[in-house]
Amino acid sequence: MPMRTPFVGGNWKMNASLASAAALTERLIGSLADLDIQAAVFPPFPYLLRIRGMLAQADSPIALGAQDAYFQRDGAFTGEVSVAMLADCGVTHVLTGHSERRHVIGESDELVGKKTQAVLDAGLTCVLCIGETLGQREAGETDAVNERQARAALAAVTPDHFERLIIAYEPVWAIGTGRTATPGDAQAAHASIRALVADMFDQPIADATRIIYGGSVNAENAAELFAQPDIDGGLIGGASLDADNFTVICRAAAR
Ligand code: 13P
Repeated sequence: MPMRTPFVGGNWKMNASLASAAALTERLIGSLADLDIQAAVFPPFPYLLRIRGMLAQADSPIALGAQDAYFQRDGAFTGEVSVAMLADCGVTHVLTGHSERRHVIGESDELVGKKTQAVLDAGLTCVLCIGETLGQREAGETDAVNERQARAALAAVTPDHFERLIIAYEPVWAIGTGRTATPGDAQAAHASIRALVADMFDQPIADATRIIYGGSVNAENAAELFAQPDIDGGLIGGASLDADNFTVICRAAAR
């Protein structure tokens, strides 16, 4: 089975000021200089260039990600940001389908699919987020929702895209609530998603694909979650805004 390099992303969401984002980056450059995992930060758009400059100057291994992108290359799409623009700013990773985009902003499965395709077509790494709401979990629909979202997002994705695809399982009820999925529940969902990738493509692709967990991961619970065989790291919200916590979480993912 291929070795999957663990991935831990810090999704800063719509948080931080330019000054606090720079201070956080400075601390992470120091604390994450020698990791044998892939770490990435996903700052708000206006801070990307500043943080890119800091990471580049320090020759930091921390990757730069964006929280969203539009699927069109350019044109009259007021307020949107294209993948090409992000790449121009040094972004290498882009989130698509985050639950806050799906459930707060109202993005459809179809739109998430177009964005996912645009990120992969442009040669960037896509972190595709999927996951069920509390009502869907209680109705026993977890696997069905993950399957629907994954199939819609990956409809046009080819096997060679998979090297640059990371799937983030983020149960909506666990995001920002302090209510984490148990390691067993998260592992079960991850195993189902891996089986789905095998069904859609093949087993070697499924075995090589990183599937990371997000939803109230913190410095205390990260190690147990990341110890599960199908959990290859995490996408961290609140705890990623604190350099010490994010560093502990990244170290917990190192195998
Ligand atoms: P929290 O870690 O704050 O629950 O957020 C998770 C998340 O949405 C990461 O993308």
